[in-house]
Amino acid sequence: MSQIEPRPLLRKISPYIPGKSIESVRREFGLKKVIKLASNENPLGASPKAISVYRKSSKDCFLYPEGASPELRKALAKFHKAPEESILIGNGSDEIIRLFCEAFLDENQEALTSQYAFIRFRQQSMLMGARIIEVPMMNWKLDLEAMARALSERTRLVFIPNPNNPTGTYNSQKELEKFIVRLPPKAILILDEAYYNYARLEKDYPNSVPLWSPRLPNVAVLRTFSKAYGLAGLRVGYVVTHPEIVGWLDRIRMPFNVSLPAQRACIAAIQDARFVSKGVSLNRKEKVFLEKALPKFGFEIVPSACNFIFAKSPILGKELFQKLLERGIIIRPLDEYGLPFYVRISIGRGPDHLKLIKVLEGVLK
Ligand SMILES: Cc1ncc(COP(=O)(O)O)c(C=O)c1O
Repeated sequence: MSQIEPRPLLRKISPYIPGKSIESVRREFGLKKVIKLASNENPLGASPKAISVYRKSSKDCFLYPEGASPELRKALAKFHKAPEESILIGNGSDEIIRLFCEAFLDENQEALTSQYAFIRFRQQSMLMGARIIEVPMMNWKLDLEAMARALSERTRLVFIPNPNNPTGTYNSQKELEKFIVRLPPKAILILDEAYYNYARLEKDYPNSVPLWSPRLPNVAVLRTFSKAYGLAGLRVGYVVTHPEIVGWLDRIRMPFNVSLPAQRACIAAIQDARFVSKGVSLNRKEKVFLEKALPKFGFEIVPSACNFIFAKSPILGKELFQKLLERGIIIRPLDEYGLPFYVRISIGRGPDHLKLIKVLEGVLK
């Protein structure tokens, strides 16, 4: 055996388990057609305008990209009516979660989030040796009142995914406002809005927490191009927050964290509002379909504000996952969240769901 010694902390961190890829399932089971409903990607693909810009930019792939993605930053500043200095672009919002932990967490300090919150918050906080506090949920929702009580002078980061993955639930504007006023001055609230474009259809989803406000210097809003924009493979996310915070994150960002074609494609994507609304409408329609169809098989569904369904499965999640996998459908079991009877099914297109229903009729008889 090798004598190498990782940092002791690494032994406590379980690796992130991504959704299985279409290619790997094709290879493993010798299948031609595989449907992926596992990673909350956009079933319509990406905006044709973004793809066209991406293709054109590929001729410049011999050049290093501009490090801080200045053109994209400028476009986002205009889009959100925020100063450019308040925006930082990351290699997916995942990179920004990591940067926050590296910049603001140390041993003896605390990161606060909820039970069943997006698992990357825990993994990245633990890597820094900080204590991660996960406050129990109430009815599958973040209990912001209980989270406020768990704030302490050691709290440096608070992660509120709104809505949350994998539960699909969200907190209202009132709940959030009440929480924000209790934030200690040394703590930064990271409001992860990866599913914003879907959730904004909900009537009490917060819209008055401005993306950028000098009045809220320790609030940071995270967004991603991976979901409604359909650009998960390009790996681009961003944060809007106080320039001072941006400055600290920028110091430790990888110098060329986002490729040039990706930067340019994202500029085209934000200009194609029609593509986003087409995907959001499709999602709304197909969500209603699945919410009606799945309970007939014994699934217990939690209302979702996202582009996925979170449900209690009539059989073990892993078992269901395996049975569907063998028949060419990838879903997500949730054992890594300690939820062996729960699954997450991304919302796809109509024909994907008809196939899913047909396969479920076979495996859950
Ligand atoms: C709540 C939440 N935050 C962040 C991310 C990371 O997204 P990305 O790194 O693709 O921007 C995801 C991805 O599934 C998510 O669900």
